[in-house]
Amino acid sequence: MDARAAPAERPTRRARTGPDRRTFLRNSWLLGMGGTLGAFGLASIGFLWPRLGGGFGAEIHLGTVEGLRTAIEEGGGRFEYPAGRLYMVRYDAAQDPDGVYLDVTGGGPVMALYQKCVHLGCRVPWCASSSWFECPCHGSQYNRWGEYRFGPAPRGLDRFPTEVRNGEVYVNTSQIVTGPSRGTNVLGQPPAGSHCT
Ligand code: FES
Repeated sequence: MDARAAPAERPTRRARTGPDRRTFLRNSWLLGMGGTLGAFGLASIGFLWPRLGGGFGAEIHLGTVEGLRTAIEEGGGRFEYPAGRLYMVRYDAAQDPDGVYLDVTGGGPVMALYQKCVHLGCRVPWCASSSWFECPCHGSQYNRWGEYRFGPAPRGLDRFPTEVRNGEVYVNTSQIVTGPSRGTNVLGQPPAGSHCT
């Protein structure tokens, strides 16, 4: 019997399955840099992007004229901005030859209406079927420009001065402009359908 032991087999090297240490470190560094630059970029965009919004009692920025017009059309005739307690509607100075609303709109293409009913202060919702504003509390009705039509309200809806600066719309909700008298019906808009109240 041969007492000499057979030479031990050398362990085979296991194939590498992941990145080597250098690659791993380089990828980690790139990832870190990418994250930092991404955060910086987002912060810069946030700084440069115009800040929309604002609350009741302040000047409210409602974005571009075009954006607002689209929102009004998509809303069926009005855009609601609850934080400002207001509605935005389209205004066309050509439909207002006597300039009744020129002061409050600045001649711009939109008008801001205060949602508060001038009768006893309920919030006046939009009635989609009539395309008027109709108060559920005691039935006052106002057309799309917030002009008095029916019910116990003493006048049309109050409104806020609106200004267009560099194509952007700003509404000053710190200043309430008293609505038009009961007899005012510049828009002459009949109800589009059945009433809600
Ligand atoms: S509060 Fe609107 S009709 Fe009375």
